[in-house]
Amino acid sequence: MNPRRELFLEEMGLTPLWRLRTAAAAGAAPGAQLQARPADASRADAEAPASPQAAVAAAGRAAGIARMDWAGLKAAVAACTACGLRKTCKQTVFGVGDEQADWLLAGEAPGAEEDARGEPFVGQAGKLLDAMLAGIGLKRGEDVYIANVLKCRPPGNRNPEAPEVAQCAPFLARQVELIRPRLILALGRFACQTLLDTDASIASLRGRVHHYRGVPLIVTYHPAYLLRSLHDKAKAWEDLCFARRTMADLRQQVQSRVAAP
Ligand code: URA
Repeated sequence: MNPRRELFLEEMGLTPLWRLRTAAAAGAAPGAQLQARPADASRADAEAPASPQAAVAAAGRAAGIARMDWAGLKAAVAACTACGLRKTCKQTVFGVGDEQADWLLAGEAPGAEEDARGEPFVGQAGKLLDAMLAGIGLKRGEDVYIANVLKCRPPGNRNPEAPEVAQCAPFLARQVELIRPRLILALGRFACQTLLDTDASIASLRGRVHHYRGVPLIVTYHPAYLLRSLHDKAKAWEDLCFARRTMADLRQQVQSRVAAP
């Protein structure tokens, strides 16, 4: 077996291989799945600008961000104080990788180690993410870009709040436009629900191709969740295999279009 794939399977707790096949044949391990955030009437209110003036300002800010090039965008993120998070974090975490990557991985927000180092997914969850990437023949920085919905660490790793997301989301949207990845892999409930603008659970969103701003998007569990929930690792492996097949299909479609008379 390819040693990188072996490493991944080991990291995922899926060795020996028959465990994966058994889980798949049995419909994969049941058990705790990520549940949708309870339908929260206050969420829409929190995301809605407080006044028409605020709505105009927010739209103007988003439109400005949507015109930025890489240098402008990086500077804007580094200088951003649009929400309170910049006061408590050490630094902004912009994103890392190949700026022309076919793969974009989107997580939630920096944790303590990411905040200290200025790079996404460098802690324990990041190690697992690297192993997951290796399992499907990918490597951080090589045809892969990694970014978070939020660029600043929420204090104590608390969940991001809607106004913070509203301020930060245009940055990720612009990163997607500049990279123009072929496929987005959304990691964890928060990134999936934010990018797809839904309250649906990961369990209900898995196994299908969704779209974010016209870019195909596949969901899977967050590596930090997988570190705690061993029974869902087999499902994450299925998601990664699905993503790899989808990428191959997307590339094939482009080749067919180019070859067509
Ligand atoms: N979790 C995330 O969602 N992103 C990171 O960068 C680190 C942990």
